[in-house]
Amino acid sequence: MATRSLSSILSISSTSSLRSLGRYFSWGRAINRFSTSVAIEEPIRPTVQIDYTQLLINGQFVDAASGKTFPTLDPRTGEVIAHVAEGDTEDVNRAVSAARKAFDEGPWPKMTPYERSCIIYRFADLLEKHRNEVAALETWDNGKPYEQAANVEIPLVIRTFRYYAGWADKIHGLTVPADGPYHVQTLHEPIGVAGQLVPWNFPLLIYCWKVGPALACGNTMVLKTAELTPLSALYVSKLFLEAGLPPGVLNVISGFGPTAGAALSSHMDVDKLDFTGSTETGKIVLGLASKSNLKKVTLELGGKSPIIVCEDADIDLAVEHAHSAVFFNQGQCCCAGSRTFVHESVYNEFIEKAKARALKRVVGDPFKKGVEQGPQINGEQFKKILNYIRSGIESGATLEFGGERVGSKGYYIQPTVFSNVEDNMLIAKEEIFGPVQSILKFKTLDEVIRRANTTQFGLAAGVFTKNIDTANTLTRALRVGTVWINCYFVFDAAIPFGGNKMSGNGREKGMYGLSNYLQVKAVVTPLKNPAWL
Ligand code: NAI
Ligand code: MG
Repeated sequence: MATRSLSSILSISSTSSLRSLGRYFSWGRAINRFSTSVAIEEPIRPTVQIDYTQLLINGQFVDAASGKTFPTLDPRTGEVIAHVAEGDTEDVNRAVSAARKAFDEGPWPKMTPYERSCIIYRFADLLEKHRNEVAALETWDNGKPYEQAANVEIPLVIRTFRYYAGWADKIHGLTVPADGPYHVQTLHEPIGVAGQLVPWNFPLLIYCWKVGPALACGNTMVLKTAELTPLSALYVSKLFLEAGLPPGVLNVISGFGPTAGAALSSHMDVDKLDFTGSTETGKIVLGLASKSNLKKVTLELGGKSPIIVCEDADIDLAVEHAHSAVFFNQGQCCCAGSRTFVHESVYNEFIEKAKARALKRVVGDPFKKGVEQGPQINGEQFKKILNYIRSGIESGATLEFGGERVGSKGYYIQPTVFSNVEDNMLIAKEEIFGPVQSILKFKTLDEVIRRANTTQFGLAAGVFTKNIDTANTLTRALRVGTVWINCYFVFDAAIPFGGNKMSGNGREKGMYGLSNYLQVKAVVTPLKNPAWL
């Protein structure tokens, strides 16, 4: 799949985007038939079967040591989809021992890089074969539109595994010219056993950002899925076994954060921790890592990413991208463009168009064709978002559109647009993680740079301008890990991603993602004949 922005893939209202969708979509007729007021009908019954609900330890699906299970729910209804084994400390200990043994004694780190690469490629082929089932599981467990899962996310997951399969036999060290009669080389070696903590908003995308590079570099791992979305990772990890991954290399634990997650983060035999989730939990896991064995930690955390729409911007383009930037995945994106700064000269036009676009957004059963927005993940997030909306109204922002739940079942919320948002309002400061667009007005470039950077976060930013000098100034001034210019949400396996400030540390994806899973060993040998230095 060629690199395309998620927003261009998903913006079903623009004809040019529709054309670029090519063979992936045929949504044309859906465009004007639905509005956000569409009733949420009886949920469509997914056709996929749930085969894997146990823990994956040492190549076997097993029950939790305690025998306990927990339910995973359908966000469309709040009803139980399946009961899943509930891993806790004892299970984490067993999984870490399996990963330790697979690293210290098993064939994986000793295989040639090419052999490892072939297994990852084989897995990617199997995933491609089963992509529809996997996408259905993702939608069922998470509530994201099926077409988004099937046509955007799973292809990206496959692409990412192939990308890292390609890296496996291209990782090598250097020969270093030292000041003396020595031959000096560096070896780039796997770190060992990795603990990986994954959130619920992109269960498989974030799985592949972690598992892909970890495997390519020759590590073994224990991955804990998010308790709200355990199903897809179990399914695809079975495909890894089929692809020939030796037992113990990839272990998957379902379970809760304060129990299984904390056990993994503080485990003395875990050499590396890779976490994606909230800033608050990021601080906890960093603390657990530092109090235990000082394992290396990569953190990808929250955000309050600014979008800056300059006076010379292509307004229609900016409206469309700013819309997707905050509403994609029900607004549950760490890099959601959740502060839209618009220059005063185009402010009114932007608001009218943003409102019109939100009105057209198709909310409904995520399994239904043409649906752009499904339910929020659960009742807790749903309430939290509605509280933020209330706080926006109470603090004096203008509610331009939305603000209510949709239907009476499940966790659907209208795409909500606020204008006249001020920097000090909660909706402009905190991560809402829901479909709420906040539009703020600015006058000068210096002012908007200062305001955009006045946040504890620093994940991403969007800039809309036709002026190269403005683009260059903003690119350098914004303290974030990604700047998208005249686009947003362009994700590819090769493009690094991560945050500054309290949005985290380290970069995932691309060649930068490899460094999370490698350590450098310097090897020094005296040269016996200094005449040939
Ligand atoms: P969370 O950050 O608590 O959960 C992420 C992962 O961390 C899950 O696998 C969870 O089980 C694990 N975890 C939780 N507590 C832990 C602990 N004490 N030790 C080890 N692991 C632990 O996020 P949560 O509670 O699901 O959502 C709360 C808020 O976090 C959301 O409203 C959103 O603002 C933010 N969030 C941000 C994400 C991002 O991609 N940046 C992803 C998910 C949530
Ligand atoms: Mg669920």
